[in-house]
Parts: sequence; structure tokens; C-alpha cells
Amino acid sequence: MTRTPEQILAAMTPAEKLAQLQIVWRRDDAEAADLARRGIGALFWPQSAARTNALQRAAVTESRHGIPLLIGLDVVHGQFTIFPTPLAQAASFDPAVAVADARVSATEARSSGVNWTFSPMVDVSRDPRWGRVVEGFGEDPHLGAVFGAAKVRGYQGEDLRASDAVAACLKHFVGYGAAEGGRDYNTADMSLQRLREVYLEPFRAGVAAGAASVMASFNTLNGVPMHANRRLLTDVLKREYGFEGTVVADAEGVAQLVPHGVAADEFDAIARSIGAGLDTVMGGALLSDPDTAAALLDAIDPARLDDAVLRMLRLKQRLGLFDRPYVDESAERTAPTPETLAATRAAAERCPVLLKNDGPLLPLPSRGARVLLTGPFAESTDHLGAWVQHFAAGAGSLADALRERLPHLDWVVDPSIDPVRPSADGVARAARLATDCDLVVVAAGEPSALSGEAASRSDIRLPGDQEALIRAVAATGVPVVVLLATGRPLVVEAWADEVGALLVTWHLGTQGPEAIARLLAGDVSPAGRLPMTFPRSVGQIPVHHDALPTGRPARTGGSLTAERVDVGLNGPDNLDDTFTSKYLDLPLGPRFGFGEGLSYTTFEIEDAHLSTHTVSTESLARGARIRVTATVRNTGDRDGDDVLLVFLGSPVARISRPVQRLAAFTRVAVAAGGVARVELDIDAAQLGFFDDDVRFVFEPGRVELVLTDGGSALPLSLEITG
Ligand code: GLC
Repeated sequence: MTRTPEQILAAMTPAEKLAQLQIVWRRDDAEAADLARRGIGALFWPQSAARTNALQRAAVTESRHGIPLLIGLDVVHGQFTIFPTPLAQAASFDPAVAVADARVSATEARSSGVNWTFSPMVDVSRDPRWGRVVEGFGEDPHLGAVFGAAKVRGYQGEDLRASDAVAACLKHFVGYGAAEGGRDYNTADMSLQRLREVYLEPFRAGVAAGAASVMASFNTLNGVPMHANRRLLTDVLKREYGFEGTVVADAEGVAQLVPHGVAADEFDAIARSIGAGLDTVMGGALLSDPDTAAALLDAIDPARLDDAVLRMLRLKQRLGLFDRPYVDESAERTAPTPETLAATRAAAERCPVLLKNDGPLLPLPSRGARVLLTGPFAESTDHLGAWVQHFAAGAGSLADALRERLPHLDWVVDPSIDPVRPSADGVARAARLATDCDLVVVAAGEPSALSGEAASRSDIRLPGDQEALIRAVAATGVPVVVLLATGRPLVVEAWADEVGALLVTWHLGTQGPEAIARLLAGDVSPAGRLPMTFPRSVGQIPVHHDALPTGRPARTGGSLTAERVDVGLNGPDNLDDTFTSKYLDLPLGPRFGFGEGLSYTTFEIEDAHLSTHTVSTESLARGARIRVTATVRNTGDRDGDDVLLVFLGSPVARISRPVQRLAAFTRVAVAAGGVARVELDIDAAQLGFFDDDVRFVFEPGRVELVLTDGGSALPLSLEITG
């Protein structure tokens, strides 16, 4: 009969309990096996099923209590078969894309011994300078909440004991995406109202979806490092949200309490972290060392120690590791299959965002044109994006995929320039080649290495001479299509007006080039929408869709003039639009906004209705939902998907409210000339808000709703009664 976690705990000494609360990585399997014998709780994946089984055997048969290991790894958007990056997935506005990634990832990972992934990352961010925006789901808390919860369910399935399930890990708790200056690991400071409304929301949803673990973030929040933040780790996450899983540190995050200036040494840091509610230390001094135990055990409350160990043991029980600690090596998956490649290609086709298509230049003709394919991503195989492991299945090149899919076009392929290094001669060569062509496709963008962890950029324009390349080929007068491979929103102001078409392709994974080729050929129509705003300049950051209106919202952009504005004594009537919130040197608003995206066809939204036009605060408090129904008509000659968004705004409330907040979204396929009926449910929680006392309130008053697909927009009104 399998022992219960409580029975195992009762038999453990304090030093053994402490040893269980750690995960480390060791290249040397002998070292790792020794740690397993000494009762460590978890290890990073040793790169194969066989080597994982050897470590599990050491833990189960050679340690005093025979406790199996958690085996962790960052499987963020794929293990062997790589899916589009999470930011790209969010652009699909289709949570099924996130589920498809999580299902394939969990299947591949668990088959090779991984039973714990450090994903999904659900950090909201409004600052594209931060390299880790690529790992999250963008700037909107509702979008992040829906995608984060979907990914948790995709990784964990119905039963964590299943051979295609892994424990999920919501990260990084919390506020990491609000790093000042967009500089990774930097300070985050915000009102508790904003913390609740924006940054905590995806974690709340992920816990509600059953996430098995949460990872603490590197940053301080309002002066308190998250690895020692009792108010958030214990009071909010565990008590208020009811989180019963394990809270794991980020890499060396506990030891970093010393440079944060809140711990005298690493032992003090470990004691503070565990005391604040952290359960599993990642890296750092070995907790199984006798001198560590001697230094720590007097500083850690025994009940807290027991709670942390029980959380670890219960997760192992949920994973079925006590009954089946070993994986079937004959079933190990170490490469994509035709099915997983088809799944990632289908996902990749749903993520690109068409931001311009004058002409329309896209889709490309199938024959009878001479097309220059230039730019650093023309022949590159760098399509996987940040956070992939060295053993991931690589991608092919765009040039090969385009030649394969459109063989009757007369392709001239000249990558011309390096993605980051200056290449003046490459620019000149591309311009020369363009003059002999009917169309130019510039495959531009950011290498995967320029986004992800420790990859913040102070200048988010295209690197190297890519801007010069685009402008040079555009100056020839030959029509230009730009494909933008990127891990973040970029500043495209210098050239966006000079090109005919702009398709943001993100980093799409193992089948990225094939998906792009099918989109350019018109086999499928792009339907992605921006999950994060593209600013006009880095100086405009933060700029996002759900900003507050301010007391002086501008109606027009700025203008640079040397003349002083004569305020004079005319009083308020000369406050036309001069003294309003804008930049003198920028037009109003971002270059491309949240939710923007075009299709190869056109749609009309008709016959939009609300399930009710009044709802009481009392029924909202009981969880009343409001349903928006509408008809989407495809008024074009191509099949396509439309993405519908419901934004809501409160003209009058006890605190200033965002000009718009995303409350619901859906993606729907509509055949050419056809119609589709859509239903979007607005949960009660979207109709309330945290006030300045950080109380969640439903407030009587008018709520203005807008149902839009980025083209047409239908206003709807709802009255919340007292
Ligand atoms: C890194 C990242 C975190 C990751 C962890 C383990 O520093 O911050 O997201 O899960 O280390 O690799």
C-alpha cells in the first residue's frame, strides 16, 4: 500500500525535510544521483528517459525514504517540436493554439522523463524593451488570464498521472513585467490597485485552472523582493487564492536576496524565503549539506517546514510518481512526428498579424512575376524563438519554403545583410536587384537571441542596416512586402509608410517557414491581432490600449514649433488642444494598436445584442454573466477567420477607469460570402473593479461596450443598477 504524504513526513527528520525542498541542475549524472540518494526533492532533466530513470532509481531505491524526484525543465513552447512563441500564440486570439502547444509539449516531455515544466509564463507587460515579453501573452490581463489557464489545462490534462501530462508552473509571481525601464530583473513599483487589476489577474486565473506550481519572480515589488514577499506568496497566493501547490524559486532567486539587501547571507535568505511562503529553492547552497541544515533549522518554523514538504510530496502523489516513478524508455519521443509537425504548422498559420496590405499586394501571385526575396531572414533557419532547448527540432528556411510552395514564381534570393551587423554593400546590392523585379519581399526582424531572458533593448527598431535595406528597396518604386520576425513589438516608424504590406510573423517555431509560405500563397488568410501595442518610438513607452483617460486627453498629435504658445490672459478658451497629454514630436497614439490586424477578406458585424441591458450589483455579486451575440458576415471573396473583441468602459466611476478594457474575445471562421453567429460571455468579474482601497466592487452606473473586429465596431450599452 502506498504511503501517504503525511506518513512519509512523519518519518522524516528535520534535515531530511529541508533536503526535499530543493531543485538543482547537475551536468554530471553521478553528482545528481548522489543528491538523489541524499533526499533532494527535484532535479533538472538529465536529457533522456534512461538517465532520468537512473536518477529516479537512486532516489527510490537508495535513499532512506525512497521519495521519487520531480524532474523539471523549461518547456515553454515546445520540447522537440517547437510551436510559435507564447506572444505569437496570443496574437492568434485562439486559446486552442496554446492548448495544442501544451498537449504536444507535455506528451514529448513526459515521455522522456520530464514531469514538471516551468511554463506558462503569464507576466503581463506594457514595455516592449523587456526581452521577456516574448514568453508571455502580451499587455492585456484578460488575454493573459485566458491563455495562461488554457495552457495549464493543456499541460496537466485531466489527470497528472497520465503519460502525456506534466505539472504546470505559473511564472513569474508577480509584477516582473513591470520592470522599470523594461530592464530585466529591475525594480517594479505600482499601486496595489494596479497590481490586482493587471498583474495578479492571470495568476488568479491560472490557480483557478489548477496550476500545480508557481514560480516566484526576481524583482522587488514596492520594495519587497518577491522571493521573500509573505504578503503575496502566503496571504494572497496561498490563503486568498487557495493555492495548494508548491511555490518554487527562480534560479538562484533565494540567494539574490543578499544583493537585494534584505538578507545578511544565503542562510538568512533561505530562512526568509521559506518563512515568507516559498516552498522549493532553485539552485544555491545544497540544503542536504549537514552544515546548511544546522544553520537553518532553528530559523525555520517547523510547521512551515512541514507545510512546504507536504506541498512537494502531494505534487509527487498527484503525478503518480510513488506508484510509477519510471518512464517507459521504449516509448520515449525524441523528435517530431508528422502529426506534431502538422499541429505546429496549423498553430503557426494562426499567429501572424497583417498590419498593412495596400494593393492588395498579398497574397502573392502564383506565377508570372519576378520576386526578390531579401533580408536576413530570407535564408535563415532562426525561426524557433527564445527559450528552446539545444535539442529542439530546427526549422528550414523561408526561401526553401517559398520556392516549394510557389514554384512558378521567378525567385531571386539574396539575403543581402546580416541581421545585426552593418552591411552597406548588401543594401546597395538589394536595391540593384530590386529594380529588375516586379515585387520585393523583405524578410526582416530580430534574431531569437535578441528576446527572452536578459535581452532587454533600449532601442527597439530593426537592428543592423535592416531599416536602410527596406528604405533602399522601397525607394526603387518596386512594391515591397515586409515580413517581420520578432520577439517583441518593434518601432517601425522609419519605413512603415514606405512599404505596401507588413506581416508580423513573430518567431513561429519548427514549421514557421512553411506556415508563412502558405499565408503568402493565400492558402490561408492571416487573422492574427496584436496582443501588444507597437509604439511609434521607444520614448512613447508605456503606451497600451487600456490606459486611463487623464484630465486632458489630446485630440490631435503634437507639432514642433519654435513659437511660444501665448497663453495670455484669455483664460480657458485658448485651451484648444495645446495643453493636453501628448508629445510635441509624435502623432497621437501608437503606430499599431492592441487588437489590430487585417485579413485577405473583409467582414461586417451585424445584429449585435446583449442578453440584458440592465444588471444589478447583487446579481453580479452572485456571478451573473452578460452574453453578447452577433452575426459576422464575410463580405469578401476569400474564406477567413474574424476575431471579435468586446471592450468595456465606464464613463463615470468612483476612480478613473481605463478608456477601454478587454472583456471577452472570440475567433470565428466564416466562408466567403457566408455568415456566422458568435456568442461572447462577459464574466461578472469583468464588470467590477478594484477601487483605491483595493476592494473589489461592482458599482451602479452605465457601462459602454464596444464589439469590434478592428474594422467595424458596434456600441452596446449596459446599466448596472444598485
Ligand atoms: C530562469 C528563468 C525562469 C526559468 C528558470 C529555470 O532564470 O527566469 O523563467 O524557469 O531560470 O530555467
